[in-house]
Amino acid sequence: MLKRTDYLTKTYGKPEGWTLGVYERECHGYQTARRVLSTMKKDDVVNEAKKANIRGRGGAGFPMGVKWSFMRPHPTKPAYLVINADEGEPGTHKDRTIMELNPHSVIEGCMIGCYGIGAHVAYIYVRDELHLSKARLWAAIAEAKAKGYLGARPFGVDYPLDVVVHTGGGAYICGEETSLLNSLEGRRGEPRLKPPFPAQAGAFGCPTTVNNLETIAAVPSAFHMGCEAFSKLSAIHHLNDGGVRLFGVNGHVKNPGVWECAVGLTLRELIYDLGGGVLGDKPLFAIIPGGSSTPVLRADELVHAPDEKSPLHPWHGQSVLDVPLGVDTFRGIGTMLGTCCATVLAEGTCPVAAMHNLMQFYRHESCGQCTPCREGSGWLLRITEKILDGRGTMEELDQLHDIANNIMGNTICAFGEGTAMPALGFLKKFRREFEAYVRGEKKKSTDGRLTVDHHDFVGG
Ligand SMILES: Cc1cc2nc3c(=O)[nH]c(=O)nc-3n(C[C@H](O)[C@H](O)[C@H](O)COP(=O)(O)O)c2cc1C
Repeated sequence: MLKRTDYLTKTYGKPEGWTLGVYERECHGYQTARRVLSTMKKDDVVNEAKKANIRGRGGAGFPMGVKWSFMRPHPTKPAYLVINADEGEPGTHKDRTIMELNPHSVIEGCMIGCYGIGAHVAYIYVRDELHLSKARLWAAIAEAKAKGYLGARPFGVDYPLDVVVHTGGGAYICGEETSLLNSLEGRRGEPRLKPPFPAQAGAFGCPTTVNNLETIAAVPSAFHMGCEAFSKLSAIHHLNDGGVRLFGVNGHVKNPGVWECAVGLTLRELIYDLGGGVLGDKPLFAIIPGGSSTPVLRADELVHAPDEKSPLHPWHGQSVLDVPLGVDTFRGIGTMLGTCCATVLAEGTCPVAAMHNLMQFYRHESCGQCTPCREGSGWLLRITEKILDGRGTMEELDQLHDIANNIMGNTICAFGEGTAMPALGFLKKFRREFEAYVRGEKKKSTDGRLTVDHHDFVGG
């Protein structure tokens, strides 16, 4: 259901919208942090946060309040809040809009989050090339410090708070939360074995909560209106998927961008009502729903809900384009909501070339720590390349499945799944096109683009 909102995006497009003055005038800026710090107990903050049903906006969709509740005070060690603003997932472009256009929502969210989990310092990990994002965050922190909101006694309360921006070198793996923590500590950005989870031993070995930047930026609005009311803005809050969030669309659409809407928007609304429809008014071919790691959907797929108990039952038999974009609804149709930024592929896109393009990325970004991922990502790339070049065999096509399945579940971090799932998605949904390359019926486009001239790939 298309319901546009502007809790997080009210400052977007306003002159100097990123400054403290605009945030205070337009967004009740820092009133909520003041109230929370002055009147609420730490545990009440966490219990209230749970009611918002904010599913983590970084990709995995873990409930924010539940994650906060894992934090236990340590007798000797401090606690930390770490904000993930690495935003390296291809096709994802939402967090940077918040940093650039509403950075104070992040600072205020950090203050409430820190107080709730018992931390006094929040680190915001931003990839280095996001120059404007860093500049706007630094300026916002300076403004908040100058007003005494951040510092030794925020709003006169004896609870010191600081927010520190840490810049990362721009490796995709450093968006994975434990690599991020290693990188933050000045170590090589490689994932850590879990357990211990960050809530037990995170940054500098201390209890840590890692949240995506959009997750934390939603906190001030949720606490301002009351977390239950915030949850109910969502059309699927009964599925524990609450509130509003940023929806992005890119690829072959006329009007790529980011919009804030109530949770429950559909792909059809995102692509046609907000994205303006497919470029050149071509038919829609496929959608990668939430960043390149999420399995591709064909435009002609229908929902299959096995029984009445399935959360997808109301959409049984309908197009996947009409399913509300939610964490569990999209899991139910065999893919993932991920970062909620969809990539649109128009008719004429070659799925073999598209998979090859993705595999180049994953091969390049594998940190190399785990053998199945390091070697498997290379094999996935090389075999897809052979098939695309017309040199592949049917055995090799089957090998792609085996290799991807052998990466799944066999690596320290979810990068392995992030590589294997899109490969398996393309192989399953577009088997006919891969076979056509093997049989020599199709050839790769010579200009290196992802498109082909033949339109008879569609509908197989
Ligand atoms: C390879 C890889 C890259 C990731 N990149 C990001 C990222 O850029 N930003 C992000 O917020 N989460 C990213 N994640 C997810 C984080 O590990 C983590 O789940 C998230 O920051 C938790 O925040 P949330 O619960 O608020 O969503 C990535 C995960 C993997 C496996």
